[in-house]
Amino acid sequence: MNFRHLAQPCRIGSLEIKNRMAVTAMGVNLAEADGSCGDKIIAFHERQAKGGAGLIILGVPGVAWPDGGNQPRQIAISEDRHIPGLKTMAEAIHAYDAKVIAQIHHGGMVSAQDMKEGRPVWIPSYPKPADMDLFDHMLPHEMNAFFDPEAPPINMHVMTKEDIEILIAKYAAAAARAKEAGIDGVEIHAGHGYMISGFLSPSSNTREDEYGGSFENRARLLVEIIAAVRQAVGGDFPISCKLDSKEYGKDSGITIEDAIATAKLVQDEGVNAVTVTAYHDAGRGALHSESHTPHLPDHNVKSAAAIKQAIDLPVIASGRIEPESADQFIGSGRFDVVSMGRKVLADPDLPNKIVAGAIEKIRPCVYCYCCISQIYVLKQVKCAVNPETGYEQERQLIATDQPRRIAVVGGGPAGMEAALRLNERGHRVSLFDSGKKLGGTLAFASIAYEPNGCLLHWLRQQVA
Ligand SMILES: Cc1cc2nc3c(=O)[nH]c(=O)nc-3n(C[C@H](O)[C@H](O)[C@H](O)COP(=O)(O)O)c2cc1C
Ligand code: SF4
Repeated sequence: MNFRHLAQPCRIGSLEIKNRMAVTAMGVNLAEADGSCGDKIIAFHERQAKGGAGLIILGVPGVAWPDGGNQPRQIAISEDRHIPGLKTMAEAIHAYDAKVIAQIHHGGMVSAQDMKEGRPVWIPSYPKPADMDLFDHMLPHEMNAFFDPEAPPINMHVMTKEDIEILIAKYAAAAARAKEAGIDGVEIHAGHGYMISGFLSPSSNTREDEYGGSFENRARLLVEIIAAVRQAVGGDFPISCKLDSKEYGKDSGITIEDAIATAKLVQDEGVNAVTVTAYHDAGRGALHSESHTPHLPDHNVKSAAAIKQAIDLPVIASGRIEPESADQFIGSGRFDVVSMGRKVLADPDLPNKIVAGAIEKIRPCVYCYCCISQIYVLKQVKCAVNPETGYEQERQLIATDQPRRIAVVGGGPAGMEAALRLNERGHRVSLFDSGKKLGGTLAFASIAYEPNGCLLHWLRQQVA
């Protein structure tokens, strides 16, 4: 198949991007303990740039870090000392002709680190009592990540107008730091229940001042942040805005009509692109795979298309969009850029393979949620099908200078992967299995779940 639309260059404001394939924002818990970008997170994103992504969006750099943080190893952009690491990151990504945008973020009522570490949790208004089932099916070690018996009591703080002014200034200063570091733009994260979407959503914002109530009032914080960021970075610096197109499972949550109105508003305020996402009632377990990181393919495409129709800006869409569909959607004008998360964790070379027309070589994601579960339990990202993801420095395959003949016994997924990796290092490998076909337990797992079959097919092809 010819992916001519995905391979086409595009623009976000003044920013030229070599293709329509972005790495979506993913907070991956790989930054240094002081919030700076060190070798580990730089290697993670550099690998994606090497793999051909046109644009990389850095997940959740905290504008007020450590305040407003939602991960222990989150990127920080709250102080000037964070600039050098971001600069090294930008240079590493630019070396592969890719562009990089920082997703500027404050966790608001989802600031898990503030809760754990006893800092005030800044919120628009007190949340309603939750009807939760999220914890019902968790394993003990997962529960431990949420409930630290040593943690101080949670201290919710309804923001005053002075707090709002401080926050706006922090977004502006963070954007200025991104620019100074040579980052190509910023994405204002206004989704996923974080600070700005907490204000936008009628479900979580019950304020009675000029920041609550009507649509205009709920959007006021976002508008003021955009204005302050624009003033800090100047007219040419690209700004995108990530918006929830819907809040699943929330009675009075954001609707697509609200999202369209917000998209028009941010366009009027001088934003250069809109990233379309979704959120959900976070207390309900099943909904975690039904909004921004969906199990159903193309889950958010309809919303992205509706927003695209209403505005004259590039629209970035994500949410299990396969390359074939992405190419068609871009061709038919439903959105402009596909931003991919899990597929790129599974195979960072996906964009290069698309451009080369070698789609059969792409290591398939099996949509098992192992990667994002790691973040939930406060660990660094990893991928069930790619052992190098998140360990780009430690586990890279280095060609051997002592090639050997090696027998791998057992042709299940582990045996096939081991054989592939040894072969890639330059050894002569023979793979033995007592069965007639390779696959082992993965062959059984494929009967129950089709994506496992894709992985099995891919592994068999690679070792053939
Ligand atoms: C490990 C992981 C971390 C994520 N962290 C963020 C984040 O920091 N900010 C954000 O806006 N979305 C985050 N997301 C959601 C993604 O941006 C995206 O919406 C989602 O992965 C769906 O795209 P995909 O189907 O291509 O993976 C994360 C997703 C994953 C898998
Ligand atoms: S295979 Fe699983 S762990 Fe890897 S990216 Fe896909 S969903 Fe995440």
